[in-house]
Amino acid sequence: MGFSKNFVWGAATSSIQIEGASREDGKGENIWDVFCREPDKIFDGQNAEIACDHYHHYREDVKMMKEMGLQAYRFSIDWSRVLPEGRGSVNEKGIQFYNNLIDALLENGIEPYVTLYHWELPYELYKCGGWMNPQIVEWFGEYAKLVAERFSDRVSHFFTLNEPQCFVGQGFVTGNHAPGVKAPLRDTFEMAHNAMKAHGRAVQMLRQYGKQPLTIGYAPTCGMFCPDTDKPEDIEAARQAMFAMREDDSNWAWNVAWWSDPVILGHYPEEGLIRYEKYLPKITDEDLKLMSEPIDVYGQNIYNGCRVRMGEDGKPKYIERYAGSPRTAAGWPVTPECLLWGPRFLYERYQKPIYITENGISCTDVISADGKVHDSNRIDFLTGYLKALKEATQTADIRGYFQWSLMDNFEWSLGYTERFGLVYVDYRTQERIWKDSAYWYRDIIQSNGDTL
Ligand code: BGC
Repeated sequence: MGFSKNFVWGAATSSIQIEGASREDGKGENIWDVFCREPDKIFDGQNAEIACDHYHHYREDVKMMKEMGLQAYRFSIDWSRVLPEGRGSVNEKGIQFYNNLIDALLENGIEPYVTLYHWELPYELYKCGGWMNPQIVEWFGEYAKLVAERFSDRVSHFFTLNEPQCFVGQGFVTGNHAPGVKAPLRDTFEMAHNAMKAHGRAVQMLRQYGKQPLTIGYAPTCGMFCPDTDKPEDIEAARQAMFAMREDDSNWAWNVAWWSDPVILGHYPEEGLIRYEKYLPKITDEDLKLMSEPIDVYGQNIYNGCRVRMGEDGKPKYIERYAGSPRTAAGWPVTPECLLWGPRFLYERYQKPIYITENGISCTDVISADGKVHDSNRIDFLTGYLKALKEATQTADIRGYFQWSLMDNFEWSLGYTERFGLVYVDYRTQERIWKDSAYWYRDIIQSNGDTL
């Protein structure tokens, strides 16, 4: 039992979380640039104007990736850096930055995996209605075309949307992420619908303008569900819970099926259609055809899950976590089994090769007296999760794993409080310090996971 010879070991980041240079070289504003200036939205009034200053440090960051043995690097393009108004005129300096990054990666033998949208909606498009405006399908398509034209001679792996659950759910349902709006439910379903159509349109454009055969995927997320015992009925309970809609409307976007059934199976889940009928936009066959434009791989960002058993009423029953059970610094539960059951259930339903496009943990990392960063919690976490993933490869076609994150970075509304990196960033000096986990991950990659 083990990872296949071609298994891809990587790490992931996103543009605004690391790049900085938010007003440099003609970059336009995106909704996060603007949101960070609002009072009381980001921890301690922090912002992403400098972040890890990767825009200026990308060469040394790529060198670090190479030393770590990364085979692949997943990063996102800031739409507003290449198209400052979201459409129309191209910012050549922005294109140049990504060209330089891609070239540096390739020179160092690291395969670039590009995400088109990791929540960086150009502000100019937001002003025109953003995800609410059905024209966004074409705006996003045009942006994908530009990306294909400029980068696909060297990049062959693309993901369209990162976690639509979050950019619609947290951006417009709970409102704790940019643009910080609590929109009517009706609007949020419209945005979700437009986002999935935009995904489909981007797939078409990437294929049409790609300069080589491309591998195209989608990168949603969700909490996973795991059976509390190996009994068939508990496994069935976990499977049902995994693809069910949530009880709570104020959290409706946090589910798997609404976002993946249309994209992969070509239809919305029946349960949601009935339950949310009064909030839904008009859904046509043509829309569904566009959303389900065939993709090659299915990405999933997986962080944790919860346990269930089959209840006496034939419905999944949630198992409470015990007092004092392990948690990350951010308070998220530590549940390694989610990397076994999550991919298993997802593969069973969608039958697409899977990439774990993100997985990781925030810890309260500090520089110790010896000048090093000893993050044994992260090593424990990753050991457990990767062992589970190794087991999952027995029954699911899993192509790769991207650790979140290469380095500490701007954790959205939590600012710089949460450290998710394999590499510690001292934000005062921009010094990068390898944590113990970075050395550990390098060894795991070297052994293709055999030492787990
Ligand atoms: C997002 C990342 C984020 C990470 C940790 C994911 O939801 O894609 O941008 O930093 O989780 O919260």
